[in-house]
Amino acid sequence: MSKRVCPWWLGYLLASPIRRLVDDPSKVLAPYVGEGMTVLEPGPGMGFFTLELARRVGPSGRVVAVDVQPRMIERLKRRGLGLGNTWMHAWPRQIHCAWLT
Ligand SMILES: C[S@@+](CC[C@H](N)C(=O)[O-])C[C@H]1O[C@@H](n2cnc3c(N)ncnc32)[C@H](O)[C@@H]1O
Repeated sequence: MSKRVCPWWLGYLLASPIRRLVDDPSKVLAPYVGEGMTVLEPGPGMGFFTLELARRVGPSGRVVAVDVQPRMIERLKRRGLGLGNTWMHAWPRQIHCAWLT
């Protein structure tokens, strides 16, 4: 893996609720993402945008989040557990993936 990817520990900072004050995912995504859509998110990190994507597409949609770093996906999966209608799958290969909804 390239040494130039965002270090996994920075994922905690990027997923911080404080970031919402300047970069609110619901406002960013509202014009583009709706119920029932299938969305591919490359490089989700720990899911700052992913969880809002899953809420927006709802149970009839799907979010496929693909990250090269397994630690990012592991943390994203744990954070997604709070979503009632969410299911996730991770492929233990070089590309790590979480499916939500
Ligand atoms: C700067 S972080 C941004 C994370 C998230 N999108 C956010 O806004 O908080 C970039 C993420 O992209 C991932 N990434 C970098 N290159 C990638 C690639 N070729 N395929 C999949 N994920 C990649 C990194 O592992 C990292 O988690």
